[in-house]
Amino acid sequence: MKNIVVLVSGSGTNLQRILDTIDNGEIQNAKVSLIVADRECYGLERAKNHHIENVLIPRGKNFSSELSKVIPENTDLIVLAGFLSILKPEFCENWNGKIINIHPALLPKYGGKGMWGMNVHNAIIEAKEKESGATVHFVTPGIDEGQAILQKSFEVTENDTPETLAQKVHLVEYEIFPIAINKVLGN
Ligand code: GAR
Repeated sequence: MKNIVVLVSGSGTNLQRILDTIDNGEIQNAKVSLIVADRECYGLERAKNHHIENVLIPRGKNFSSELSKVIPENTDLIVLAGFLSILKPEFCENWNGKIINIHPALLPKYGGKGMWGMNVHNAIIEAKEKESGATVHFVTPGIDEGQAILQKSFEVTENDTPETLAQKVHLVEYEIFPIAINKVLGN
C-alpha cells in the first residue's frame, strides 16, 4: 500500500476526487495518510470529514521546514492539489521525483510566479487563446517547470469567461489527476 500526502490551500475538490477514486478503486494500492493545508480552507474540512490525519501549517517562510517535520518517512508521493505556497528548493530536491502538482493550464504556457487559479483563466481570456486545459507535472525548484506527466486540452469558445474556464478546467483535472497518480505510483 503506497502512502500519499496531499497539500491543499482551497476548496479541495481535487483532493475530494483523489479520495473518491481511492475509495472506488480507480487509484489502486494507495491511501492518503496525511493532508496538510497552508491556511484555513475547506480542504481541511474534507480531511476531517474523511477522518484523515490533517495539519495546518501557516504559510510563510518556515512552511517547507515545518512540512519536512510532519511528512512521514515512508511517504511515496506528495500531491499538490490546489496548493498555493511555493516549496523551497531543498524540499523539492529531497523529494525529487515524488512530488506532483496539478496546474490549471497547458504548461509551459501560463505557468510560473503569479499564475495560479483565476489569474490563469483571466490571462487566457485576455489573450483570446483558442484552447486551455490542465497539466499534472513533477515539482522541481523552478515554479511549474517540472516534467509533464499528463495533459489534456479543450477548446476555448467565444462565450467562455474566466468562470466557465475554471469549471471546464476542473472537469479535465478530475479526469487526468487519478490517471496521472496511478502512472507515478507505477500502477
Ligand atoms: C485547481 O484548478 C488547480 O489546478 C489550481 O487551483 C484549483 C484548485 O481547485 N491550482 C493552481 O492554480 C496551482 N498553481 P480545488 O481546490 O477545488 O482542487
